[in-house]
Amino acid sequence: MTAKIIDGTKIAEEIRGELKGKVDELRKQGITPGLVMVRVGEDPASVSYVRGKSKASEELGIYSETIVFPEDTKEEVVLAKVEELNKDPKFHGILVQLPLPKHIDSDKVLNAIDPKKDVDGFHPVNVGKLLIGEPYFLPCTPHGVQQLLIRSGYDPGGKHVVICGRSNIVGKPLMAILVQKKKGANATVTVCHTGTKDLAATTRQADILIAAMGSPKVITADMVREGAVVIDVGVNRIPDETKKSGYRLVGDTDFDAILEKAEAITPVPGGVGPMTVTMLMVNTVRAAEMRLAKKR
Ligand SMILES: NC(=O)c1ccc[n+]([C@@H]2O[C@H](COP(=O)([O-])OP(=O)(O)OC[C@H]3O[C@@H](n4cnc5c(N)ncnc54)[C@H](OP(=O)(O)O)[C@@H]3O)[C@@H](O)[C@H]2O)c1
Repeated sequence: MTAKIIDGTKIAEEIRGELKGKVDELRKQGITPGLVMVRVGEDPASVSYVRGKSKASEELGIYSETIVFPEDTKEEVVLAKVEELNKDPKFHGILVQLPLPKHIDSDKVLNAIDPKKDVDGFHPVNVGKLLIGEPYFLPCTPHGVQQLLIRSGYDPGGKHVVICGRSNIVGKPLMAILVQKKKGANATVTVCHTGTKDLAATTRQADILIAAMGSPKVITADMVREGAVVIDVGVNRIPDETKKSGYRLVGDTDFDAILEKAEAITPVPGGVGPMTVTMLMVNTVRAAEMRLAKKR
C-alpha cells in the first residue's frame, strides 16, 4: 500500500478561495478586515513568517500593517503599542510574532491583547473558551490540522487520535479542539510527551497519529499502525550538502518508510505549514465579522 499524500498547499488554496468571497462581501459592506503584526528584532525566521502573513493578507484583500521595533525595545513600549492597537478600529486582528527578545515577558504581552482581536488564540481567555467549546478563535496550527483531516476525508469523529507533543501552541489546543462533542471533532484523544513510558506502544494504537515534537524522524514506520492517517506538524532543519542553503526541511516522521504503511500522510514541507497562515486569515476575517455582528 502506498499512502495518499494529503496536500496542504491545495487545501489551503481551497480555503483561501472561500475566504476571498467573505472578504469581498465584508468590503461591500464598507468593512476591510485589518491585521496588524508586531515584530521585535530581526530574527530571520520571524522576518520571513511575518512577510508570508503580510503577503497572504494582501492577496485576500485584507489590510495589513507590520510594526517593527528594534531588538532592545523596552517591554513597556511594546505593551503601550498593544494597548494602542487594541483601541484602533482599523485592526480586527493583532498578532505579536514570537519569540520576543528574552528581556520581554511574552506572556505579559500576549495577555495584553484584547481577546476579541487575539487572532493567534493564545490569550488565556481564548484558551479557556476553547476548552469549554465556545471559542472566539481556534489557534492557527491546530485548526489547520483539523481542517486537513476533515477536508481530505478523514473526519476525526469516533477515531482514536494520538498526539505526540503537549505544547501550548500545538499539542494541547489540538487536544482541546478534537475532544469537543462537535462535528469534525468528537475523537478519543491521547496526548504523549517525554514522560510517556512506551511511546511506540501508544502510537501504534492510533487511527490518526499527529506528530508535533520538533525532532527529526522520531516517528518510525514500526510506530505506525497499518492503515493509520499520519499528520506531521514538525519542521526540522537537517544538513544537506546538495542544497544551496546547506540544509533541508524534514518533519517528525520517517516519511518514506511510513508511505508504505499508512493510509495517508502529510508531507513536510507542503502539509501543515501552508494551513497555519491560512487559518490566521480565517481568524482575521472572523474578527471582522464579529465586530460587524456586534454593530447590528
Ligand atoms: N507547520 C507549522 O505551521 C508549525 C507551527 C508550529 C510548530 N511547528 C513545528 O512543530 C514542532 C513542535 O512545535 P512545538 O512548538 O509544539 O514544540 P515544543 O514546544 O518544543 O514542544 C514539543 C513537545 O513534544 C514533546 N516531545 C519532544 N520530543 C519527544 C519525544 N522524543 N518523545 C515524546 N515527546 C516528545 C515535548 O514533551 P515535553 O512536554 O515532555 O517536553 C513537548 O511536549 C516543531 O518542529 C515546530 O517547528 C510547525
